[in-house]
Amino acid sequence: MLKTHQIAHVIMHWMVQKYKCDNMSKVILLNASPRTNSNTKIVLEECAREIEAEGVETEIISLKGKKIQSCIACLKCSETGNCVLNDGLDEIIEKIRHADGFIPAAPVYFGTARGDIMAALQRIGKVSRGGDKFLDWMVGGPIAVARRGGVTLTLQEMLMFFAINNMIVAGSTYWNMVIAGPEGTALEDSEGIETIRLFGRNVAKIIKKVRD
Ligand SMILES: Cc1cc2nc3c(=O)[nH]c(=O)nc-3n(C[C@H](O)[C@H](O)[C@H](O)COP(=O)(O)O)c2cc1C
Repeated sequence: MLKTHQIAHVIMHWMVQKYKCDNMSKVILLNASPRTNSNTKIVLEECAREIEAEGVETEIISLKGKKIQSCIACLKCSETGNCVLNDGLDEIIEKIRHADGFIPAAPVYFGTARGDIMAALQRIGKVSRGGDKFLDWMVGGPIAVARRGGVTLTLQEMLMFFAINNMIVAGSTYWNMVIAGPEGTALEDSEGIETIRLFGRNVAKIIKKVRD
C-alpha cells in the first residue's frame, strides 16, 4: 500500500510533467561564483545564448550572497517535497522542478568545486530522489572554471549528481572547462568557450528530442 505522501509525490510528478508538456522548454543554469564580474557567469551567458538560439528558454541563477547549508539528513523532504533549511534553495529547487534542463557551473577552489555548489546539488538531489523525482530525464551537465588546475576532478564531482539522479548528460568536443584567472577574462579561452557553446546547443537539441 502506498503511503499518503507517496501518492502525493506521484500526483506531483504527473502535474510537473503535464506543466512541461504545456509550456516552453527551459534550462536553469546555476552559477556558484561569489564574484560580481564572474568568469563562471560569463561562461553561462555564452552557454545560455546558444540554448536560446535553439528555441529553448534559459534562466541564470546565482548563489552569490546566499549562505547555502549542507543537507542535515532529516529526510523531511521525502514527506514534504521541499527542504526544511530556509536559505533560499527551495525557490531554486522549484524552478529546477519545472525545467527541462539543468547546468550547474562552479569555479574550482583548491582542486575541487566551490563548497556551496556541492551542498546545493546534494540537497536538490535528495529532494528529487525522496519525492517526485523531478530530475528524471532532465538534460544538462556540469561546467568548471579555473585559473589553472582541478577542472576534471571538479567536473567528475558534479557528474556524480547527474548519474545518480537518472539524468541525461550532453557532450561536447572537449570537457566543459574554461581556463580563466582574473575576473572577467573567461572569453580569452576561445577553445573552452567553443566547447561550452557546443555543449549548450547539444543540451537544447536533446531536450527537443526528449520532448518529442
Ligand atoms: C579560494 C580559491 C581557491 C582557488 N583554487 C583554485 C584551484 O585549485 N585551481 C585553479 O586553477 N584556480 C583556483 N582558483 C581560481 C579560480 O578558480 C578562478 O579565478 C576562476 O576564474 C574563478 O571563477 P569566478 O570568476 O567565476 O569566480 C581559486 C580561487 C579561490 C578564491
